[in-house]
This record gives sequence, structure tokens and C-alpha cells, in this order.
Amino acid sequence: MTAAPLCRATGLVKEFATGRPSLLGRKSSFRAVDDVSLEVRAGETLAIVGESGSGKSTTARLVARLMEPTAGTVELEGEDVTSYRSKDLHEFRRAVQVIFQDPFSSLNPRHTVERLVTAPLVYQKRKIPGGAKAFTRGLMERVGLNPDLSDRYPSQFSGGQAQRIGIARALAVGPKLVICDEAVSALDVSVQAQVINLLRDLQADEGFGYLFIAHDLAVVRQIATRVAVMSEGRIVEQGDRDAIFDAPQHEYTQTLLKAVPRIDPEWDRRRREAQRRREEQERSA
Ligand SMILES: Nc1ncnc2c1ncn2[C@@H]1O[C@H](COP(=O)(O)OP(=O)(O)OP(=O)(O)O)[C@@H](O)[C@H]1O
Ligand SMILES: [Mg+2]
Repeated sequence: MTAAPLCRATGLVKEFATGRPSLLGRKSSFRAVDDVSLEVRAGETLAIVGESGSGKSTTARLVARLMEPTAGTVELEGEDVTSYRSKDLHEFRRAVQVIFQDPFSSLNPRHTVERLVTAPLVYQKRKIPGGAKAFTRGLMERVGLNPDLSDRYPSQFSGGQAQRIGIARALAVGPKLVICDEAVSALDVSVQAQVINLLRDLQADEGFGYLFIAHDLAVVRQIATRVAVMSEGRIVEQGDRDAIFDAPQHEYTQTLLKAVPRIDPEWDRRRREAQRRREEQERSA
């Protein structure tokens, strides 16, 4: 028997009212997410790609239980969490953290890094290991920020640094699944690569699963273990990263891949070689 995956979503549907009643006066609705099933295993990254409006963020919100599905279930470590309320949902929120595109919008500008990073623990009335100061410094070091800056405010950081604060805050509660919704999309390419490396390193250390949403296929190629391709609310193709990139089966995926600007083949070869080495190291670690 194989163990239950870290997270499994089955038959997720989300309908939104369109606001325009039909001729018969019934409320009309459309399906932003239409029968989506996916699995994320511990230590792996499932990327969801697809054009704007294909339902990626809505899927993420359903999996994170930030939104009620019209139909379908979400399981975490084999337990159905779809009907979780209050106390159970609190536990779930610890286990599943979400990192969004714009770090500044999810960080209260009037709170210092220390307060931001420890807030989830304070809110949950949990003891902060080693005290707030030392705990914050430790986390800042882990995400590559200078721990001496724990008294600063979000506006005093760059976009990449602010996203690292968001990652530190997610780490603070010890998550099992981390959902990244376009978490690196707003960053410059070089900063993007650094944050992706950080996410990979943290995954190697902690073994958490990522549900990684991005419209940028170059980013997905760097981080994904498996890829799910969404179009009009449905997953049209799903498979191992290399299979999807090297031999896409679905016409939509082929179109999506063709839309990517060609990368310098030599650079691409070197990057893949470096990635292969990293993966080997990860495996032997
Ligand atoms: N709260 C909502 N109410 C009504 N419609 C919504 C709501 N949230 C999303 N939608 C619609 O559902 C569809 C899917 O949206 P979603 O945000 O999931 O797409 P996405 O794939 O994340 O797109 P993007 O790449 O632009 O972020 C879109 O047509 C969107 O307008
Ligand atoms: Mg989105």
C-alpha cells in the first residue's frame, strides 16, 4: 500500500455567479474551476500553469480552504478537510501556508519584521521558541536576510527581500504544504532565481510539498517536479516536468510552450546540467 499523498484534491468545482440572470430569471453562473483533481506529495513541487483566467488562483484558494468549493474535496495527509470549521481549520491553516505575488500587500506596513514573522504564533497563542527576538533572527538568517534588520518595516525592503519576509512568516508556523501563487512573478529575473533557489533549499531541508502557480514556464521549469496545465478551469494535461516540456501531448500545452521566447540553448544546457547536479546532491543528501 502506498501512503496517502500530502495533499489530494478531488473533483474540485468553483462556480461564480455572473450577475446576469438568464432569460428565465435563474441566476447564471460560470465554472472558474471545473472538476480539478490533483495530488501533491511531500518533498515535491506540483506546478500549475495556464493562461490568465484559466482558474489557477481559484484552484489554489480552494486547496488552501480560503474559499468554499461548489463541489469536490480536499484531503491533507489522507484526512478530508473539506468540512473543517473553526478549531480544525486553525490547525489546517498552520499546515498549509500561502505565499502571494505581491509581498507588500500581504505584509502590514505598520508592523516590524519581528512582529510580522511572529504574529501567526502570537495569534495562535503558541510559545515562541527561544523568544521573539532570537526566533525572528533565526528565521531571517534562514531566508537570507540580515537578522539585524528585524526592527525595520516592509517599506524599507526591496521586493525580493519583502518576499523573503513573507517566506519567513510562512516558515514560522512549520507548514507541510506551501502554496505559492505567482510568488516570484513580480520579481526581476535575477532576484527571481535567488528566491527560487531559496524555495528549493528550504524544500530540501524541510521536505514540504509545494503547489506552485506560475504563468512563466521558464520559472516552472526551474522548480517543478510535475506540471499540471490548466485551460478554462480544467486540467488538460498533467505529468512529470520533462515529459510536459519535451513531449507535450495536448494541443493547448504545445501552444503554451511555443509562446515562450527561445532561450539560448547553451545557457539552457548549462542551467539544466547545474540543476541535474543539484538534484543529485539533494538525492544523496
Ligand atoms: N471572486 C470571484 N468572483 C467572480 N469571478 C471570479 C472570482 N475570482 C476569480 N474569478 C474569475 O474566475 C476565472 C479564473 O480566475 P483565476 O484568478 O483563478 O485565474 P488565474 O488562472 O489565476 O489567472 P491569472 O494568471 O490572471 O492570475 C476568471 O475568469 C476570473 O475572472
Ligand atoms: Mg492568478
